[in-house]
Amino acid sequence: MTDFQTLIINRRSTRKFTEEPLTPEQVEKIMKAALMSPTSKSSNPWQFLLVEDKETLEKLSLCKKIGSKLIAGCALAVVVLADPFVSDVWIEDSSITSIMMQLQAEDLGLGSCWVQIRERHTMADTPSDEYIRELLDIPMQFQVLSVIAFGHKAQERPPFDEEKLQWEKIHIGKFNINQITG
Ligand SMILES: Cc1cc2nc3c(=O)[nH]c(=O)nc-3n(C[C@H](O)[C@H](O)[C@H](O)COP(=O)(O)O)c2cc1C
Repeated sequence: MTDFQTLIINRRSTRKFTEEPLTPEQVEKIMKAALMSPTSKSSNPWQFLLVEDKETLEKLSLCKKIGSKLIAGCALAVVVLADPFVSDVWIEDSSITSIMMQLQAEDLGLGSCWVQIRERHTMADTPSDEYIRELLDIPMQFQVLSVIAFGHKAQERPPFDEEKLQWEKIHIGKFNINQITG
């Protein structure tokens, strides 16, 4: 890593991956980042299900109508699960751990993409979480928040254009409606 600011300027979602698998060390670092994520009351409501098998990745890539095909070509998909009975803020906890893994992957020079599962549906209109639960034998007590796809980047994406940042969304002291209505 050069520095954190450079990392976040250059981080973009990767949807095209090479065939190269991840090393066990890379997977370990990504999962360490997940396990070190902050959670409310340190309740750690999440579980992580790792999928590297090509056939299962293909099936997993059908979990949504749109936006999940990329899973078929990734080297590793991490299905982020959480138990809502362990934490009432499992969505926040699971979202934080998802982005922590993505930032760690970026730091390793790897690409990643978040695939949203909660509140999404398959082509046949089955809830995406149900489809994944059945495919991967996930017990009913766990909610499926996201699938994070990882792999070696097979596409170059431009970094953020700092000139285009939406500074009007930053309000100082009191909310200023004029900033957003022009
Ligand atoms: C909550 C969330 C859900 C997302 N779901 C998907 C998805 O289902 N499929 C996908 O291809 N990208 C998904 N993304 C990636 C966004 O499309 C992407 O972050 C956004 O377009 C900004 O692009 P960037 O990540 O390259 O900066 C998701 C990102 C977030 C934060």
